[in-house]
Amino acid sequence: MRLRVNGTDHEVEVEDDMPLLWVLRDELGITGPKYGCGIAQCGACTVHVDGVAVRSCQLAAADVDGEVTTIEGLGTPQALHAVQQAWVDHQVAQCGYCQSGQIMQAASFLDLNPEPTDEQIDAAMSGNLCRCGTYPRIRAAVKTAAAKLQGV
Ligand code: FES
Ligand code: FES
Repeated sequence: MRLRVNGTDHEVEVEDDMPLLWVLRDELGITGPKYGCGIAQCGACTVHVDGVAVRSCQLAAADVDGEVTTIEGLGTPQALHAVQQAWVDHQVAQCGYCQSGQIMQAASFLDLNPEPTDEQIDAAMSGNLCRCGTYPRIRAAVKTAAAKLQGV
């Protein structure tokens, strides 16, 4: 099958039911998306398909209909996405394992809802778990990113 990931086309020979996460990590060597639960309950594997956050552990690669973006393709070292910069500014990460999924979730959410309330931020991020408990810094970073994206 053919997959477009982070601006590059790839041909991969995998079973149709192989989850996108496996294809990204094991076939393409794109390891930003993490395996946490494998059952769409933690958010560690979150990537975008045409800008919309999806749980790549539960999406068959054959069902991907659009361009995949992972944390590796969200910004560049020279030009971080506003969400990535906010994560740096707030020093959000602790162990870091959940954070690529958190950032991808936040970036997609802010694209769809650029002026979120605190309640909307909490609801949007509630499916992304962090065993290190970085939730207060995540919330603050999402607010900072939202302000930056609005030019405030
Ligand atoms: S690994 Fe996909 S949601 Fe947990
Ligand atoms: S930073 Fe460790 S799991 Fe979230």
